Amino acid sequence: AAAAGGVLATDRFRPVGPNKRDAFTVPSGYRSSVVIKWGDPVVYGAPEFDPRKQSVKAAERQFGFNCDYVGVLPLGRSTALLVVNHEYTTEPHMFPAGTYTDDEIKRISMTNHGMSVVRIVRGATPGSWRQVKALRSCTENRRIHIRTAFRLTGPAAGDARLRTTADPTGKRVLGTLNNCAGGTTPWGTVLSGEENFNQYFDAGAGLSPDYAAQYARYGINGSGRGWGTVDPRFDLSQEPHEPHRFGWIVEVDPYDPTSTPVKHTMLGRFKHEGANIALSRSGHAVAYMGDDERGDYLYKFVSAGKVDRSGTAAAKRRNMTLLTKGTLFVAKLTGDGTEDGRFDGKGKWIPLCSDTESFVPGMSVADVLIFTRLAADKVGPTKMDRPEDVQPNPVNGRVYAALTNNSNRGSGAMPVDEANPLASSKVRASIGAPLTDASGNRNGYVLEMTPYNGSHTANSFTWDLFLVCGDPEAPETYFGGFDKSKVSPISCPDNVAFDRAGNLWISTDGNVLGSNDGVFRVPVAGPNRGQVQQFCTVPKGAEACGPLITDGDRSLFVAVQHPGEVSGATFETPASTWPHTDDFPRPAVVVSYRDR
Ligand code: FEO
Ligand code: CA
Ligand code: CA
Ligand code: CA
Repeated sequence: AAAAGGVLATDRFRPVGPNKRDAFTVPSGYRSSVVIKWGDPVVYGAPEFDPRKQSVKAAERQFGFNCDYVGVLPLGRSTALLVVNHEYTTEPHMFPAGTYTDDEIKRISMTNHGMSVVRIVRGATPGSWRQVKALRSCTENRRIHIRTAFRLTGPAAGDARLRTTADPTGKRVLGTLNNCAGGTTPWGTVLSGEENFNQYFDAGAGLSPDYAAQYARYGINGSGRGWGTVDPRFDLSQEPHEPHRFGWIVEVDPYDPTSTPVKHTMLGRFKHEGANIALSRSGHAVAYMGDDERGDYLYKFVSAGKVDRSGTAAAKRRNMTLLTKGTLFVAKLTGDGTEDGRFDGKGKWIPLCSDTESFVPGMSVADVLIFTRLAADKVGPTKMDRPEDVQPNPVNGRVYAALTNNSNRGSGAMPVDEANPLASSKVRASIGAPLTDASGNRNGYVLEMTPYNGSHTANSFTWDLFLVCGDPEAPETYFGGFDKSKVSPISCPDNVAFDRAGNLWISTDGNVLGSNDGVFRVPVAGPNRGQVQQFCTVPKGAEACGPLITDGDRSLFVAVQHPGEVSGATFETPASTWPHTDDFPRPAVVVSYRDR
């Protein structure tokens, strides 16, 4: 069938070139506007933002810092709910020097983590959107923050290793941390990944030896942010189990502001970038997930139950239990040799556990779910170059994963292989001749996986590196076979999205080619497969997050995360003042659209 799609899916635009501007730049013929920015009121009664009058009480009701995932869920005819993650904080950029005590800074920063739900409304220009003023009538508006109660679900909920002084049940957690990417489910909820949660826990009087191996595998080393002095649960010597309560996939129902969000133990615990759901032909929910660490793994979950498509409130409640029972898998990729001139091969999904049975020798179901990295280590999956967003393409049924970069690839612990073929320059000398003469995997890949027989529940797949990112003039780069003289340079893919025509949209984080980060469109099929074109760049020091193509492909939402995050910059001496409403930068969600 002919692909649907229009406007941003099919428009011919002149790609934005590499630049270092302190601006959000789109091609001529397009506009962009800020939908909401750090500190803007979210919940009714929130004060207007004043950087010198920040408080916990204000932050609990204002848009948090460092927006990452962006979801837009339909509400009325011209309104929608915008759901956004607030991944982390950088205090030197947030607080004027000498204005707050250390403890105040810690408490306010903690509260700036989490998620926001806000009502938005169409603007006059098709594809444009703006926030609805946070009135009492915006009943869905919500800030999920460090004191918001979550319920643990699935087989590991209540396990002894999830219990703490404050929660002897092991089933109730306050807060969510380092929420990076995410996904919108077919049943109208949002999934969000708890990523680098390890950084929030202090050693206190010393790390418990009970979890030495587990802590080490998760990078929990006690060098926290000093939060333990304002909340003892962040002191590992007092609460050794608290970090086990983070690192999960979270599910939120944004339509019900009184609902208790959940953390799904069945989806495993690691540095979850995010999760995206495909429904198999049989109606099972299949979640694709990445563990963003150098040399960590790709995962998949297949639900035991089938989705209820009847659209009733009861059906939604049932669908919200789909992620509590099923089977968790980890990926192994095998190459077919590089003589064919392509990085490609076969893959299989290795089962780790179901909700009732462990497939990892010596580990229980709860062991596998709470210490998923250690379980996966035992079954020989492929160590990948930092798996970020993994997302199924609803048009062609293939699955796309951003592998952002890996400075350690080629070391003894992580030799090159066909799926991760470029050795880092840092370690090249020590390994002899790498597979190619590249300067290393500094620019990342986009992996394309084709499920066997088109089935998301199949245990095997084929794969290829659709993009080997970098400067198109560099010999090792590959753009899906497209003419490399006609593509935009791209570096460090992080998040991926699709328009209705099935084009891939990629946002980047950490461009090392000398330009600001941005968002790119690239067809995955037809004569233009691999034609990477840059649609926008974000301001200085920022990474581009989201992205989300929505509203009939008329709107591109982008989260501009950490503008001005440059070494040495402070609140008083910022490296960016974007979005230029103040004399300091404010992370913000932007929407781009045609200017006519
Ligand atoms: Fe928070 Fe893996 O990016
Ligand atoms: Ca090959
Ligand atoms: Ca990233
Ligand atoms: Ca990310």
